Amino acid sequence: KNIPLEMHKVRIIQKLTLLPVEERAKAMEEAGFNTFLLNNKDVYLDMLTDSGVNAMSDSQQGAMLTADDSYAGSETFNELHEKIKEVFGTEYFLPAHQGRAAENIVSQYLIQEGQVVPMNYHFTTSKAHIDVNGGRVEELVIDEGIQVTSDHLFKGNMDIDKLTACIEENGKENISYVRMEAGTNLIGGQPFSLANLRDVRQVCDQYGLILVLDASLLQDNLYFIKVREEEFKDVSIHDITLEIVDLCDIVYFSARKLGFVRGGGIITKNIEHYNNMRELVTLYEGFLTYGGMSVREMAALTVGLDETMDFEMINQGPQFIEYMTEQLLANGVPVVTPAGGLGCHIDAMRFVDHLDQSEYPAGALAAAIYIASGARGMERGTMSEERQEDGSETLSNMELVRMALPRRVFTLSQVEYIVDRITWLYENRELIGGIKYVEEPKVMRFFFGRTEAT
Ligand code: F0G
Repeated sequence: KNIPLEMHKVRIIQKLTLLPVEERAKAMEEAGFNTFLLNNKDVYLDMLTDSGVNAMSDSQQGAMLTADDSYAGSETFNELHEKIKEVFGTEYFLPAHQGRAAENIVSQYLIQEGQVVPMNYHFTTSKAHIDVNGGRVEELVIDEGIQVTSDHLFKGNMDIDKLTACIEENGKENISYVRMEAGTNLIGGQPFSLANLRDVRQVCDQYGLILVLDASLLQDNLYFIKVREEEFKDVSIHDITLEIVDLCDIVYFSARKLGFVRGGGIITKNIEHYNNMRELVTLYEGFLTYGGMSVREMAALTVGLDETMDFEMINQGPQFIEYMTEQLLANGVPVVTPAGGLGCHIDAMRFVDHLDQSEYPAGALAAAIYIASGARGMERGTMSEERQEDGSETLSNMELVRMALPRRVFTLSQVEYIVDRITWLYENRELIGGIKYVEEPKVMRFFFGRTEAT
């Protein structure tokens, strides 16, 4: 049997509770059937996200004790900066308090009203910042990317022909930058190949365009390049990282995912980009030597980035996700294949095919999974889209429930438990009804909108 192994042991634990099903049903109803609105004390397995909830190592916690607290010129920042130079091979680093803060700065700096940002696929916060700055997202992922089941190993690849056509149609002067997202979040944590990134770079060079990488999910993408891309099977994670970063002009990341901490930043080898963005850091984030992060987080990030270069530290996440995906598949439950990073993604469109897309199948399924198991996932479908200007729905390409596996957090028996509960729910799927909004925020409604049964 192919059992994924943890190359770490648990040395600190947190007690969990598993409420009886009646109480779970009540909690879910009180939360407007929105898993974001549940209290974590009512959750057994918090699989909402991998953001800010990854387990720290003993070395990270140790480093936090010796951090140098100062507003300006903190030695902890200098150490982090040195680590960034070493790991990514870039000279300049701008700290930010999290990923979307980096997106705010990059978007404000590069986007002019009416311009287009071609990308493999959008992420919610990335798109919101591009929209706010007057830009428009064009999604150019390969066709396999939005097919729920596929055997394509790099479903996050950019379609190079579509990219060229997009630039030709819009004119290169109307393109702000080209964005690649590592571990493409909304289509199931799917990686791009390094060969594809090289091709994207070539197109950017041909038209003189800036290439921006969202590296928030780089950790999983690095793993997949090493195990799925023949050319890199004997190349170290660090050397793969150096080549990826070298191909890009600006790289930003959420350290809530990359580096097992909380925080974020922007890195570049180009002094002009650095100079142009640094004033925005002081305006929105904080002084250049902390950017909204605490020194303790920066110290832990320095160690976390080192651990990210260790294959045995980064393989557990994708291997557990693959295990969960394979088990669900074997039980007939519809899931995104191949397994990606971040979490296991359940195909709500097929799971609850008796619901219309306007009844938010993925939202309804996420609520039902909580009631059936005490685990909470996240809707990644139509609710995660914004309405059109005329108020009509933007129907999502996919209706997914993401059961995230925060890195180094859960055990295999907990994975077995959630597989069992989701399988039970699938066998009793006629119990699941649709939902409709009763309170709907205008921007990113999925975060705190409330619904009731249709
Ligand atoms: N880019 C990607 C690809 C992300 O997945 C996220 C966050 C961000 C940017 C924004 O970073 O949260 O630090 O501001 N994704 C989280 C998630 C929220 O649950 O998938 P942030």
